[in-house]
Amino acid sequence: MSRHANHTELLQELTAIGQEHLYAFYDRLAPNEKSELDRQIASMDWPLLAELIRTVVLNPQPLAVPENIEPAPYFQYAPHEPELREKYRQARAIGEQLLRKNQVAAFVVAGGQGSRLGWDGPKGTFPATPVKNKPLFQCFAEYLLAMQSRFNCAIPFYIMTSTANHQPTVDFWAQHHYFGLPESQIRFFSQDMLPAVSLDGKVLLETPGSLALSPNGHGGSLLALYKSGALADMQKRGITQISYFQVDNPIVRCVDPLFLGLHEMEHSDMSSKILPKVASNEKLGNVCLVNGKMTVIEYSDLPEVLAEQRTADGQLRFRAGSIALHAIRCDFVQRLNDRGFALPYHRAEKKVPCVDFATGRTIKPEKPNAIKMETFVFDALPLASSSIVYETDRIDEFAPIKNAQGVDSIESSRQITTLRNSRWLEPAGINIPRQADGTPDCTIEIAASFALYPEDVKAKAAQVPPINPGDQVYLQ
Ligand code: UD1
Repeated sequence: MSRHANHTELLQELTAIGQEHLYAFYDRLAPNEKSELDRQIASMDWPLLAELIRTVVLNPQPLAVPENIEPAPYFQYAPHEPELREKYRQARAIGEQLLRKNQVAAFVVAGGQGSRLGWDGPKGTFPATPVKNKPLFQCFAEYLLAMQSRFNCAIPFYIMTSTANHQPTVDFWAQHHYFGLPESQIRFFSQDMLPAVSLDGKVLLETPGSLALSPNGHGGSLLALYKSGALADMQKRGITQISYFQVDNPIVRCVDPLFLGLHEMEHSDMSSKILPKVASNEKLGNVCLVNGKMTVIEYSDLPEVLAEQRTADGQLRFRAGSIALHAIRCDFVQRLNDRGFALPYHRAEKKVPCVDFATGRTIKPEKPNAIKMETFVFDALPLASSSIVYETDRIDEFAPIKNAQGVDSIESSRQITTLRNSRWLEPAGINIPRQADGTPDCTIEIAASFALYPEDVKAKAAQVPPINPGDQVYLQ
């Protein structure tokens, strides 16, 4: 729909697709509310929505379990075989070369709502580190600064927001002077929003003057890169590879030369990092081959009989758990958009507070009343001509903050960070006080400026003070 359409034209368009109820309360709205509702409606892709309502909402296809599912092969973490070690050495050199030639961009998807965390603000502003409480965004900025100075390069940073958190995100970075990164190197852009739809196909209002909108899923990042001009900006800067990561992990290697190098060496369009799952029901997507194509099957969708299969040595057969870290070629993102956006939309039944069209009052539903539609970034994998998988180490790289308590919480993330840091310090001869159960009896935070890899610690061991039980240690 044209962004310049006036109210009458918008009403006509909505009427043509049976969605004119969205203007049911228009006459009661104040002038500014009217123009805001018109603006929201004009910004929607109604032909796409009409199609999604027809297919995803009203005629959903039952989820077919693919017949030919095999575990995906992957490059092991720290292999012993000499040939593989040599290959990794070459891959790391290739990855470092990509960085030195300024061909890599970092890309964080930060459009989701941190509702599970109960945090009132963009999730990237959440205080994450164990001693200094640095926000997630600062962790990424410091990592990139340290990598830039090590490889004497520029790593432009692209940050995807959603309309719900765009301005607070931009303001936060500005207030903190971009944590030392040059402003010209950071680009913010929003993903699209989609309205929730009732089970019988009516687009819902959150208030009489606004649609019940939510972000279109992290797969929307591959569309937003293209639509926002970020992809063109990357291409103009000579970037060929995108290092994609989620906003929830303070110890993520935002760009990893070894992973990027393997991805480049194998001419992969889109590569994934995995962790071996600790249990069949661990909440990580399963990286599999489906009819020979790389595919992620969500933890909730892999049949239990498959999820629980074990190999002769007792390991889970399907153990490659996706941690949603990807290396993606720029020209692959271009291809995914060239003939209309290629990713499928998933349907999720949700409880969405909305306006009752009969009374105009807000309803807080007790059971699912609406469908939300989202795309997932990993649905691009089967569309890649080539795709590789690389195993990383859980303690070294995965301390996500997703929940307020328990698994994947701030508490567990801080513990993993201290554990990782004690593993980096001990081989350098630094004594770590331990509790009776063997866990560190101290809290340790290592800034990226101090060390990016365990090897970096050795040269700086003299700078580390003696660590006593209960100490809070910050190394920078
Ligand atoms: C996700 C993956 C799961 C993977 C796990 C690893 C899905 C469906 N599941 O789970 O396979 O094993 O991470 O940690 O993705 N986001 C947006 N816009 C959106 C939706 C999400 O930017 O519209 C961003 C979030 O800000 C976050 C990331 O995508 O950075 C992950 O989203 P989330 O919904 O939290 O996925 P998880 O359930 O954590």
